[in-house]
Amino acid sequence: MEYETIVVRKLTPAIGAEISGVDLAHPLGNQQFQEIHDALMENLVIFFRDQELTHDQHKAFGRRFGELHIHPSSPGAVAGHPEILTIKADAESKYVAGEEWHSDVSCEAEPPLGSILYMRRLPPDGGGNTLFANMYRAFETLSAPIQRLCEGLVAVHDGAQVYGGRFGHAAKEGGFPRAEHPVVRTHPVTGRKALFVNRNFTTRIVGLRKPESDALLEMLYRHCETPEFHCRFAWTPNAIAFWDNRAAMHHAMWDYFPHSRLGYRVTVKGDRPFLRT
Ligand code: SIN
Repeated sequence: MEYETIVVRKLTPAIGAEISGVDLAHPLGNQQFQEIHDALMENLVIFFRDQELTHDQHKAFGRRFGELHIHPSSPGAVAGHPEILTIKADAESKYVAGEEWHSDVSCEAEPPLGSILYMRRLPPDGGGNTLFANMYRAFETLSAPIQRLCEGLVAVHDGAQVYGGRFGHAAKEGGFPRAEHPVVRTHPVTGRKALFVNRNFTTRIVGLRKPESDALLEMLYRHCETPEFHCRFAWTPNAIAFWDNRAAMHHAMWDYFPHSRLGYRVTVKGDRPFLRT
């Protein structure tokens, strides 16, 4: 792809690119917006370094891509900015957000299109990287019979598994979000097929016996963990990662306890996953 208003440097052939030549604190012109959008579609996750953004500027950047999402269960919203999630770990933490491979809030009926994490503080001795996986590649490298099997399946994604069980967040009235989604989804922009199950939220495959569902999901999760599908981003203070939840999963490394790490995430609303065969 040719870019005129930004510089795009790929991190790996499979996924991830670092973008330079743009200051996200200022409103984006139409061409620059379009090129950033194209770079996201091409690379699934894009990174920007050395950005100085207020919470309002962070939200304004997110809003160029769609309406902002408010997290259904996390207590970590920033005061006065319900659309901003605090991503924080320190010596008191019992868990951190995103320690398992996942696509954000896939338990919702319309899971988010993308997430924009702005990292402000990092542990002193390194660590705290984020890993990203190409879920098109995960689907495309399954054998044809397993692709066909997966294309006929729907899975349950249940917020209670994460927010209720592991994290113990207080449920909102009406409980935690829970939804059924195709195991393989068609990306609404690229038209490509991506595997759409994850260890955080996917609890079972509809219509299969429990041992069958558990075995198939475990096989798919392990397949998604193939290192060749991944890139690993080493954060620097004031870097931003913007990932497409429809085509990528991510995994936050918590290898820096008891040190602290602090970031803020804006999440852009998405639409209902579908499969076009
Ligand atoms: C998340 O899942 O949004 C957290 C990612 C990270 O902290 O690297």
